[in-house]
Amino acid sequence: MCIHRIVYPIARCTLIDPSYISEVLIAEEALQKRIAELGAEISKDYQGHNLLLLSVLKGSVLFLSDLIRRITVPHAIDFMATSSYGAGVASSGVVRILKDLDSPIEGRDVLIVEDIIDTGTTLDYLMRILRARMPRSLEICTLLNKPSRRKVEVPVKYVGFDIPNKFVVGYGLDYAELYRNLPYVAVLSERVYAPE
Ligand code: IMP
Ligand code: MG
Repeated sequence: MCIHRIVYPIARCTLIDPSYISEVLIAEEALQKRIAELGAEISKDYQGHNLLLLSVLKGSVLFLSDLIRRITVPHAIDFMATSSYGAGVASSGVVRILKDLDSPIEGRDVLIVEDIIDTGTTLDYLMRILRARMPRSLEICTLLNKPSRRKVEVPVKYVGFDIPNKFVVGYGLDYAELYRNLPYVAVLSERVYAPE
C-alpha cells in the first residue's frame, strides 16, 4: 500500500512502482559521483575559455542541471531540440531540428551535452551543422554511451558511462515521454513495449 496516497497520490506511487523496469543499471549515487568527476574535468579543461554548454533537449536536461552545478568556470547554456525516436525504441535514422540555438556560436568554445549516444546519427548531423557556424572549438560530453550500436563515428571528449545495448530510461531518458523523472538509469522492461 502507498502510505503517501493522500499527499502525493500519483507521483509517489509511480516512483516506487518497479514493474516497468527490469533492472537499475546506474544508481543515483553512482550517477552523481561520476557527474562530479566530469564537472571537475571540464572545469580544468575550460579555464579561461568562452564556454557554452549546448544541451540537446529533452533527454539531457537533468544531466545538464546537475553538471553545471559541478562546473566552476564561467559558462553560458543554450538549448537545441532534434527529433528522436518518438514512441518507439528503434532509431528511425532521420534527424530534424525542432528548436535552434538562441545565439550565434562563432568564436565560442561549445560543449554539446547529450544524454546518450546510440547510433551516433543525431550527433554526427548536429556536429556538421554546428561546425559550419565557426565555433572556436566543438566537443561532446555524453552521460551514456552505447558503443556497440554505433553506425557513425563521432568524436566524444567526455563519457559518463559506457552501457550495453539495452533500452534505458530515467534521469532524463524517456520511453514515449515517460520515466524521465527517475533519479537513476534503469533498463525498461520489455513488457512495456512488447507485451505478450
Ligand atoms: P542516435 O542518433 O541513434 O545516437 O540516438 C540518439 C538519441 O536517441 C538520444 O539522444 C535519445 O534521445 C535516443 N535514445 C537512444 N537510445 C536510447 C535509450 O536507450 N533510451 C532512451 N532514449 C534513447
Ligand atoms: Mg538526446
